[in-house]
Amino acid sequence: MSLINRKTLAGAIGFAILLGGATGAQAQDPIVIKFSHVVANDTPKGEGAQMLQKLVKERLGDKVKIEVYPNSSLYDDTKGLNALLTGDVQLLAPSMAKLGEYSPSVQLMDLPFLFDDMNAVTRFEQGPGGKQILESMQDHDILGLAYWHNGMRQLTADKPLIEPRDARGLKLRVEPSDVLAAQIKELHAIPRKMAFGEVYQGMQTGVIDGQGGNTWSNIYTQKWNEVQSDMTESNNGVLDYMLITNAKFWNGLPDDVRTTLNEIIAEVTTSVNEKADQLNEEAKQSIASSGTTKIHELTPEQVKAWRDAMAPVIDEFRDEIGSDLIDAAQQSNNAN
Ligand code: LMR
Repeated sequence: MSLINRKTLAGAIGFAILLGGATGAQAQDPIVIKFSHVVANDTPKGEGAQMLQKLVKERLGDKVKIEVYPNSSLYDDTKGLNALLTGDVQLLAPSMAKLGEYSPSVQLMDLPFLFDDMNAVTRFEQGPGGKQILESMQDHDILGLAYWHNGMRQLTADKPLIEPRDARGLKLRVEPSDVLAAQIKELHAIPRKMAFGEVYQGMQTGVIDGQGGNTWSNIYTQKWNEVQSDMTESNNGVLDYMLITNAKFWNGLPDDVRTTLNEIIAEVTTSVNEKADQLNEEAKQSIASSGTTKIHELTPEQVKAWRDAMAPVIDEFRDEIGSDLIDAAQQSNNAN
């Protein structure tokens, strides 16, 4: 073979290797899963998203890459849901208060004083009612993968809220849920539906006087204690998440990938749900020691007054949500 021919052959082989390499690399490009959420990293959901990302990197690193966008850095929850439907984002874990327009039954989770504590929430979610709600948005191509806990909701305002009448006339932020708005109306207060990321400013500028229930971890990480003088340990509802994906996307994943992702999600779910109470308790202590805000604990009689004031909402939404589901949720308060 002449020198020129050898060079040509070597060049051709080099080109083929390059091409092969490039084609190979392309074939191995990982599937990118964007996970958008609105809370801080050091919250139950924030930690869950990071753990998911880490485990997927360890076990599926060559096949799947999870990109996490916390703190509304990609979308707020409303835009996130639209993006999930158009395929621009693949994972979300909105509070169920954001999902009412896709499923009447999911509104169950917003009913006032329905669950006594997070253990009751777990019992309900692991039962048939929980499964039913998880699968209730399939008509919209939304697939529920798991329930992730945050915690119980606490009232905050720029004045003490001890009795229901203290809330009269106040503008209180709620998530975009008709059930949550109805509770505020029962207090003769004014519900303001507002995106999570706008609440601090709303409180600072007086657009709202307070909010109708959120968790200690959200309150603290959003620094609402800097702009709210008073908080009430009201436990007036639950803020819980559903990890959701686009059903078409999920069902289109290679079987082995989907199986491993489901295993990882089960592991992360256990961890998030075990740790959520602790994160909320730590956040409550941090608020208490920040000295910015008074935390009011209620007597059993005062709790009953708030419960009674909001109770009509349960019957108002009974038919829409389903009596069976409401009964099952109430049953879950009995441990046995
Ligand atoms: C809210 O909007 O208050 C919450 O749903 C935010 C969250 O994701 O915890």
